[in-house]
Amino acid sequence: MFKILFIGDIIGKIGRAGVKNLLPKLKKSLKLDLVIANVENLAHGKGVTEKTLNEIKEVGVDVFTSGNHIWKKRKEVEEIFKKQNFFLLRPANYPPNVSGIGEKIFITNNKEKILIINLIGRVFFKEDFDCPFRVIDKILKKYKKEKLNAIIIDFHAEATSETKALGFYVDGRVSAILGTHSHIPTADAKILPNKTAYVTDTGMTGAENSVIGVEKESVIKTYLTQINHQFIFPEKGECTFNSVLVEIDLKTGKAIKIKRVDKKTTVN
Ligand SMILES: [Fe+2]
Ligand SMILES: [Fe+2]
Repeated sequence: MFKILFIGDIIGKIGRAGVKNLLPKLKKSLKLDLVIANVENLAHGKGVTEKTLNEIKEVGVDVFTSGNHIWKKRKEVEEIFKKQNFFLLRPANYPPNVSGIGEKIFITNNKEKILIINLIGRVFFKEDFDCPFRVIDKILKKYKKEKLNAIIIDFHAEATSETKALGFYVDGRVSAILGTHSHIPTADAKILPNKTAYVTDTGMTGAENSVIGVEKESVIKTYLTQINHQFIFPEKGECTFNSVLVEIDLKTGKAIKIKRVDKKTTVN
């Protein structure tokens, strides 16, 4: 059985420290074969840098997916996409010719092929993304002749209904579809009828007593005054770690099991 840990949006310094505290032990205790993490909020809450990606790569994250905030540090991310020195994806349904890639095959130590796909939803986003339903059809068609052992999707979406619908749409055609973006973990991790592992939102890895990773006072002030207050990202204190463990049969590409792995750790 192939075991994948999928970690929800890692937010800033406290999130990276949380991963450092917990992941090496989890790798051993859960006997993980692959670790995937959503990194759109990795570097000070928004975007990524080589330094921050290296920090979590060193403690065991193999594959990085992302979402709408990946562009915040534009220069850095475009350089990373150009150099291709990390297994980093951005949603595949951005318009054509946007830098970066939305899907890539991960090759395991035993030479098995796992296609990782990143997609973003359209509901409640101000951007005008291509249709994730039609784009996933196109991607799956493109890889039809490839002998894949598993297919994993990170679906980065705001509306739970959109994720649910896409989940059923790909059920039986992919090994797992795992939600990110809302930063709130959902209690519905399950195997869909045609053996695809599913969760509406994995959650986040960031400050526990925060509003989806942001220091709570600045968000409350923004709501009270209707004027944007600078968002601060807490760097110390209690950190929540949200992830799901997915077990896949690489002979069939079907999911056997999915369960939430939610932890807490203190960052000093
Ligand atoms: Fe996020
Ligand atoms: Fe997002």
